[in-house]
Amino acid sequence: CGIIARIGTDDAVPSLLSGLSNLEYRGYDSAGIALLNGHGLEVLKREGEIDRLLERVSRRAPSAETGIGHTRWSTHGPPTDVNAHPHTDCTGTLAVVHNGIIENHDALRARLEAAGHGFESDTDTEVIPHLIEEHLSAGRSTEEAFHAAIDELSGSYAIAMVHEDEQAIYAARNGSPMVLGIAEDALFVASDVPAFLEFTDRVVYLEDGHAVRATSEEYTITDGDGVVHRPVRTVDWTAEAAEKGGYDHYMRKEIHEQPTALRQILECHSSGEGLPDLDSAFLDGIREVQFVACGTSYHAALYGEYVATERGIPASTHLASEYATHARPVSEGTLVVAVTQSGETADTLGAIETAQRADARTLAVTNVVGSSAARVCDGALYIRAGPEIGVAATKTFSSQVVALSLFADQLAGEDSPSGPVDFGSLPGGVERVLETSRSRDIAERYRGRDAFFFIGRGVGYPVALEGALKFKEISYEHAEGFAAGELKHGPLALVTPASVVFAIFTGQDDEKLLGNVREAQTRGATVVAVTDGTNEEVLRQADDILSIPEAPPTVAGLLANVQLQLVSYHAAALLGRPIDKPRNLAKSVTVE
Ligand code: G6P
Repeated sequence: CGIIARIGTDDAVPSLLSGLSNLEYRGYDSAGIALLNGHGLEVLKREGEIDRLLERVSRRAPSAETGIGHTRWSTHGPPTDVNAHPHTDCTGTLAVVHNGIIENHDALRARLEAAGHGFESDTDTEVIPHLIEEHLSAGRSTEEAFHAAIDELSGSYAIAMVHEDEQAIYAARNGSPMVLGIAEDALFVASDVPAFLEFTDRVVYLEDGHAVRATSEEYTITDGDGVVHRPVRTVDWTAEAAEKGGYDHYMRKEIHEQPTALRQILECHSSGEGLPDLDSAFLDGIREVQFVACGTSYHAALYGEYVATERGIPASTHLASEYATHARPVSEGTLVVAVTQSGETADTLGAIETAQRADARTLAVTNVVGSSAARVCDGALYIRAGPEIGVAATKTFSSQVVALSLFADQLAGEDSPSGPVDFGSLPGGVERVLETSRSRDIAERYRGRDAFFFIGRGVGYPVALEGALKFKEISYEHAEGFAAGELKHGPLALVTPASVVFAIFTGQDDEKLLGNVREAQTRGATVVAVTDGTNEEVLRQADDILSIPEAPPTVAGLLANVQLQLVSYHAAALLGRPIDKPRNLAKSVTVE
């Protein structure tokens, strides 16, 4: 879910609405705003994407100096108008938006209902306005009532609240991201910087346990012990970088940003700036790396595991949601590396917490400076890919792999059994792929087939998993990725003449992969080889080709991945799918 709140001396509505659009990647099941319009509280909310809310708002043309807004990714209760945020109390004088999960909401709701509070929605959030109302009717001030209510909540939350008696925004965070934006004429509170980046790049990151009261002139941050002072930072993302810039979709733009993003991380690294902020004694003591991650970041971590292993570093990759409750043993020399684009994925933060409880040292590999993962880990390694808005991660996968590979080089030092990867040809290679790709033809030719399988070996295996994830999440077609050798151990039963198999040739284990290609073709499947064309047998055997420039396997895997990103993009575009906002998904999932 995404939260935006604004208080200033002019109309807050336009920036609340643009903030919600900028945050839609965090959820798009419903959207809503609550405004203090001078006559009282006005709540406008709608199930569905933000356009439906915009229609409603444009009919009413409200204006207000203070407001809060929310875009929802449903957890408790289906996406309906009543379950949309903001939620209000019985008196309709205060409104709350919330991101996270209130774990004790059942008990709180039972108590409040017994005390006569009527609930409208199925959400866990609705207990919050009623709790505040209860404390207000016990004679507390708005600020006291807000704090007293927060103290009763267990679970994770970022909350913003307005009350019609006061031109102020109240907010609190515990386990869900929240950041303050400081503009000339207004103050913002939001889940993420892109929400207000077009108005200001000056931010204050809040920590768990912080609460804020903001008026149009000032803000105060408090924790349990009183007022806290936090530094104001300037973010180096620009508003243009977070816009579509002439492309139909963020995903397409972000695919095309890869050469620039990759040059950025390679340059930073060669100037020494791209190294993690860990001291050398710390790095020298590392004997083993455990990666924890989810989704696309998990695939990047698996790629990193192959690279690290080649460098002689014992490495393993774990799904963060599993690791959080079934951690691997750690020793003094273990480094747990959390790979997370947003730095806010609850599953990954849970895995970090587990690792830290076992006294493991931790490193965040993330795209977001100041994110929760960056702050809770012992060190941070930034992938410097610029903002990624499309729900399907693309450029950040490539940058994560490069960051992890360079880090593996750094760890391996001179003892490495293999030399470092030379990524010098990667940005230019990606440019070639973008200029020459036949991915649209391939997507068109195989449109309507029953199933799409992706197979690879070595670094081609994480690319196969990532290719399938991208394909299924944005086209909604049946797609699966396998280690090519596993095909014959089960998945081959799914392969028919209506299947398409993408085989990722990286120059590593190509002969064995060719054997797996034949197995699929024998069952009638069509095979599209992603290859640099140097192996004639691959060219002869494949039914169709997606070409990549010749490169060492570690680079070739990334080039092949770009081809597959484009295939997924075109397949989804031909089917008319909402590419940047696939159904049921959100970019940053802050619940476990
Ligand atoms: C969500 C997104 C995925 C993403 C995953 C991990 O599920 O839809 O695209 O890969 O979270 O996100 P992170 O920010 O931790 O990399």
